Amino acid sequence: MSRRIAIANQKGGVGKTTTAINLGASLAAAGRRVLIVDTDPQGNAASGLGIFERDSKPTVLDALLNRADLEETIRPTDSECLFISPSVPEMIGLERDLLNAKDAPYRLSKAVNRLSDFDFVLFDCPPSLGILTLNALLAAQSILIPVQAEYYALEGLTQLLRAVEYVQKRLGHPLEIEGFLLTMGDSRTRLAADVEAEVRRHFKDKVYRTVIPRNVRLSEAPSRGMPVIEYALASKGAQSYIALARELMLQPAGVR
Ligand SMILES: Nc1ncnc2c1ncn2[C@@H]1O[C@H](COP(=O)(O)OP(=O)(O)O)[C@@H](O)[C@H]1O
Ligand SMILES: [Mg+2]
Repeated sequence: MSRRIAIANQKGGVGKTTTAINLGASLAAAGRRVLIVDTDPQGNAASGLGIFERDSKPTVLDALLNRADLEETIRPTDSECLFISPSVPEMIGLERDLLNAKDAPYRLSKAVNRLSDFDFVLFDCPPSLGILTLNALLAAQSILIPVQAEYYALEGLTQLLRAVEYVQKRLGHPLEIEGFLLTMGDSRTRLAADVEAEVRRHFKDKVYRTVIPRNVRLSEAPSRGMPVIEYALASKGAQSYIALARELMLQPAGVR
């Protein structure tokens, strides 16, 4: 049984895609079979893994529209155990495409249930709480929430946690909180330290011990189409995602 984790936060630029790619690559480097499913029409997950060209193979959109099996959308990457199901910009119209479909929020969940075996399936979510994120939350067992260490970080979380509660209580899906991940932390600034303390006070042991620092190698790696562990293994960015992968592997699902 695979661990299926949605990496979500309706705020843009908090490190969702960076986490999907680099957590995925670090888990794969530890020998786990990992699939990243991109549910963001912007499609940054595939390009960050070196897939820049569009080909004729089906995408996540085709799986959501029942035109293809999710299995058919899977591409290999340069990392042996890491695979990606890419999105397409046209996914932005999904809300309209599925207007009359009663099972609209459950399309991805159904598709994932037919997948072959992966140790981890990571859903990279768009910066919104629309139908695509809802599909990811319903397809996942847990949600990993990147939180950028800045003022107002907690504000947006209230809305996100309300969405999680909606999924749990109104839709009856037992979604766990996998963990809160502090990203782009700058340990030298007072602000980052204050935000970290506040997030930890609020969410206690649900916050990963690992903090992802602001690190230029992490922002450079996607333009080379590589996870940071391949681009700059010794960097603080790479080492922090390796530490996060370790934390995640040690923590059985649902225990955090
Ligand atoms: N820890 C980090 N250090 C430096 N740059 C980062 C870090 N995390 C993300 N970035 C950069 O910040 C931008 C937004 O990150 P991204 O992962 O795309 O956010 P999201 O998917 O939440 O919108 C990208 O340009 C990315 O390269
Ligand atoms: Mg993104």
